[in-house]
Amino acid sequence: MPRRTCLAIVLAAGEGTRMRSSTPKVLHELAGRSLLAHVMKTASAVGADALAIVVGPDHGAVAAEALAFAPKTQIFEQRERRGTAHAVLSARMAIAKDADDILVIFADTPLVRADTLAKLRNALAEGVAVAVLGFKPADPQGYGRLVMHGPDLVAIREERDATPEERMIDLCNGGLMAIAGKQALAILGRIGNANAKGEYYLTDAVAIARDMGLKAVAIETSEDDVRGINTKVQLAEAEAVLQQRLRTAALEAGVTMIAPETVHLSADTKFGKDVTVEPNVVFGPGVTVEDGATIRSFSHLEGAHVGKGARVGPFARLRPGADLGEDVHIGNFVEVKEAKIEAGAKANHLAYIGDARVGEGANVGAGTITCNYDGVAKHRTDIGKGAFIGSNSALVAPVKIGDGAYIGTGTVVTKDVPAGALAIARAKQTVKEGWAKRLRQVKALGKNLSGKKPKKS
Ligand code: UD1
Ligand code: MG
Repeated sequence: MPRRTCLAIVLAAGEGTRMRSSTPKVLHELAGRSLLAHVMKTASAVGADALAIVVGPDHGAVAAEALAFAPKTQIFEQRERRGTAHAVLSARMAIAKDADDILVIFADTPLVRADTLAKLRNALAEGVAVAVLGFKPADPQGYGRLVMHGPDLVAIREERDATPEERMIDLCNGGLMAIAGKQALAILGRIGNANAKGEYYLTDAVAIARDMGLKAVAIETSEDDVRGINTKVQLAEAEAVLQQRLRTAALEAGVTMIAPETVHLSADTKFGKDVTVEPNVVFGPGVTVEDGATIRSFSHLEGAHVGKGARVGPFARLRPGADLGEDVHIGNFVEVKEAKIEAGAKANHLAYIGDARVGEGANVGAGTITCNYDGVAKHRTDIGKGAFIGSNSALVAPVKIGDGAYIGTGTVVTKDVPAGALAIARAKQTVKEGWAKRLRQVKALGKNLSGKKPKKS
């Protein structure tokens, strides 16, 4: 049997006013990824060959996010919000291309899993014209109800239009739907707006398909799968569900987490084998941790690569472009940004390494700062293989420290240091014998060092 083609239409024309935000609803993030990108990723995962998105007027930023995720996404504008069927028909040009399966998904329902959407597609493959996701919510209020006749789905009744008996139905409409491409335009074209809201309801597709002698089914899924987001409270609830899924997936893939409930992951966090993550670690977007690495407590990572066997933290901060090689040690209160730390190098305490390369096996002492910013531009620091940077050194970029060079403690390095050389620049130390002892004696007599009594203030 030839592979079935699939068009996914993502509805994102909603206003999202209840988010009380100047950011469009679907650009809010869960686990470091926009709601929109979540559903687009899921649509791709379920095999959609074509993606279309329906946006509202002035939603350039939403369209841009869709294109950033998949440059071939077809963008359609729904000028007036006249209902879910009207929104789907805004993508008429894409529907007319006759994909076998049409998936209609909501951009504000980001937790739906590819496996669930695959079940909708499978139903179409078996000859069903409309397949709908059903679920039994804790509180059915506000949802459309699925009117069943044995195994067949007969109709979907929106709450406002439902009879008291229909409102007793506990199986609700999750909203997402699959429609057979061959019949889609015929079905959608017959949807009217004679209902309580005067809107074109996508849900009417079910009764219309039945009228046309076609079959409709409901596929039951969990409430979490079809959890919609309208408010910041629901956003936070969805985040909790997603974090739980991500942690479980990480544990199942072999990551050791001592207190998983305290670890915050991103949707794209990648772990190798035998990685240990201690309590209270935050993984922002774009982090890869290779085999055998340990991330210790209270570390914050984003856009970073942690090499095999490396140790990070406790209390370390890896910012975008931090690239740690094998067996690197980054210790407490060390910040690394846009810097390649080569195999075996160490920065164990209190340092800032930005716009730099730290060569293999080099040792960066406590309090070392790469002074990368002169107030106008950023400059690079290059530290050679096996170099030793004494504590509390300021490396004023642009600057190069050669292989095996040695920087004396407290040096402000402003010029390149050749390989194997010593650079040291610090104030000369003065020693005054007995000075401190005498200070304490005169203080005890209520005088100052010149022998006079201090003035009362
Ligand atoms: C919809 C379903 C309801 C289901 C519920 C599940 C319909 C008619 N009703 O109701 O049966 O129980 O979802 O959450 O489909 N949108 C547009 N343009 C429009 C209208 C909506 O793009 O003109 C988009 C919204 O941005 C949203 C999605 O379609 O992403 C759903 O719209 P919404 O208003 O949330 O529908 P519900 O009333 O929740
Ligand atoms: Mg809704």
